[in-house]
Amino acid sequence: MDTLVQLENVTKRYDGAAAAAVDDVSMRIDAGEAVAIMGPSGSGKSTLLNVIAGLDRPTSGAVRVGDERVDMLSEAGAARFRRKQVGMIFQFFNLLDDMTVSDNVLLPAQLAGVKAREARLRADQLLGTLKIGHRRDAYPARLSGGERQRVAIARALINRPSLLLADEPTGAVDSATGDEIGALLLELNAAGQTLVVVTHSPELARRYARRVIHIADGRVASDTAVAAS
Ligand SMILES: Nc1ncnc2c1ncn2[C@@H]1O[C@H](COP(=O)(O)OP(=O)(O)O)[C@@H](O)[C@H]1O
Ligand SMILES: [Mg+2]
Repeated sequence: MDTLVQLENVTKRYDGAAAAAVDDVSMRIDAGEAVAIMGPSGSGKSTLLNVIAGLDRPTSGAVRVGDERVDMLSEAGAARFRRKQVGMIFQFFNLLDDMTVSDNVLLPAQLAGVKAREARLRADQLLGTLKIGHRRDAYPARLSGGERQRVAIARALINRPSLLLADEPTGAVDSATGDEIGALLLELNAAGQTLVVVTHSPELARRYARRVIHIADGRVASDTAVAAS
């Protein structure tokens, strides 16, 4: 398999912090993998995702995603990289409450300059696949947590990113809904989507990832393959 993400000796130290949030991490993720990142609160999981996404610049080390040296990009370059290559979903969905479901999903396509008609087709198709098409004209406040996360997944996928990053995507929903979201992510991965999911749930990691990386104090504590269940 082709390497999609490569970190080499990546350290991220926030200004004034005693310890590095990410401490000399090296790893490779192949295209097509489904990876779960686990670890205690404050161990550096979100920082690691943000460094891969180009949201945070590492203090040292190299971050590659595809052909891109993410750590070397300008702010504008990083924004462009994120729009094209990375989809992100979050615990609290981060949808825009004054825009409809459909407009939330369309926004990244508009920012990327995709033609309106093409974007609308893709959005409708995604909303259909995610079984939320009937809610396209609703506002996020009217939706359940599980529905909101489906919308957020559609938004993350609109620009066909090579990499989908999820930071505790089931942290704010009940366990049955969490299971549905996990199954959905696994389906996306089965269709070829490379996936990195931060989760507190060993169950989710075991069932919906094929590789689990444990982080402790900003370092990789273990990195193991999981058998399909
Ligand atoms: N923007 C920030 N500024 C300063 N310190 C931060 C910032 N974000 C995270 N940290 C610190 O970095 C460490 C790792 O945080 P984080 O990556 O959020 O961990 P996790 O996602 O595993 O809970 C923690 O000590 C946290 O307090
Ligand atoms: Mg976090």
